[in-house]
Amino acid sequence: MNVLVTGGAGYIGSHTLVEMLNAGMDAVVVDNLCNSSAESLLRVEQLTGRTVQFYQGDILNKPLMQKIFADHKFDAVIHFAGLKAVGESVAKPLKYYQNNVCGTLILCEVMQEAGVHNLVFSSSATVYGDPASLPITEDFPTSATNPYGQSKLMVENILADFQRANPQWNIARLRYFNPVGAHESGIIGEDPNDIPNNLMPYISQVAIGKREKLSIFGNDYPTPDGTGVRDYIHVVDLAIGHVKALEKLQTSPGLVTYNLGTGQGYSVLDMVSAFEKACGKKIPYQIAPRRAGDIAACYADPTYALQELGWKATHTLQDMVNSSWHWQSKNPNGYHA
Ligand code: NAD
Ligand code: UD1
Repeated sequence: MNVLVTGGAGYIGSHTLVEMLNAGMDAVVVDNLCNSSAESLLRVEQLTGRTVQFYQGDILNKPLMQKIFADHKFDAVIHFAGLKAVGESVAKPLKYYQNNVCGTLILCEVMQEAGVHNLVFSSSATVYGDPASLPITEDFPTSATNPYGQSKLMVENILADFQRANPQWNIARLRYFNPVGAHESGIIGEDPNDIPNNLMPYISQVAIGKREKLSIFGNDYPTPDGTGVRDYIHVVDLAIGHVKALEKLQTSPGLVTYNLGTGQGYSVLDMVSAFEKACGKKIPYQIAPRRAGDIAACYADPTYALQELGWKATHTLQDMVNSSWHWQSKNPNGYHA
């Protein structure tokens, strides 16, 4: 199977490439490197012994996208390219709608012209808003509380309308819960620009000495220890979910939607103590006010993905934090030497 991977140089993209290439698939990447480095692709090649053709460019550049589809015959596309910082999306909504929504429209137009009808889209558990109950199944109502989440929801709805009008298309909307961790080799991992927004990269940077202490956003939530609960999923499990989704699209399922999570919730304090075990140091922290827009708890019911894809997350929380620490300690500056 020959697959175009948009945003393939990024965190989830690079891990997915490894699993795809190891499963015998071929991959071409388009990425403008706005939040990543081409070094990640060199490392994917090093890990797999395979080559990945790379186009450095923007998915908003339609002539470039047409050239890529003219140069290759693809069986499917995995669409990771997108902006994902919630706070920035509130400050710069047009940038997020332009990139995430218009970028997807251009991709779909070019795919349609080229007769490529199989698409895997990176969605997020953020589309469930503040869920009325837990665990979350795919039929829960959707809503968005910020432009990032809104852009994901808009794309989900656009893809549903588009598939309805074009039944020959097969589209998998994958709703990721909280991806963390790194490849067990420690050769690829998450390398955020600037100050990390997300918990795991922040804890890693405290552990390596780049940040002084973690701020825990609230300890008065209605959760067992008062801190926020999330469904953290090892990025390698998530990557394997994409290989399974590509295989599913070969059976012409039409539009499908899957939660990719473990079904297990952990608190911020659970994450801190697991990380302390992994790195053998104390993680200094302070309790800070709640972060605007945060919810108390969120975790998946992953049963549908098991039934339909035969996919299940297998890595434990300790595997996740051990692999994060392995990557961070081997690469204190990420991909930058
Ligand atoms: P990432 O930033 O590491 O990867 C995204 C990649 O897309 C980057 O390499 C970036 O350079 C590229 N990109 C962005 N806009 C582009 C454009 N217009 N043209 C070409 N390339 C472009 O992020 P990630 O964590 O790997 O996330 C991948 C996808 O999964 C995103 O769509 C994100 O919204 C979604 N997602 C991520 C999470 C998470 O916690 N990491 C959770 C849910 C959903
Ligand atoms: C966030 C986004 C979500 C996005 C996801 C992946 C918000 C409100 N939500 O999810 O839309 O899909 O990232 O990019 O930004 N925490 C701390 N201190 C920190 C960082 C986080 O205590 O420095 C806590 C949070 O309050 C939360 C948990 O850790 O309880 C996880 O936070 P984070 O990693 O940012 O993920 P989400 O908020 O679940």
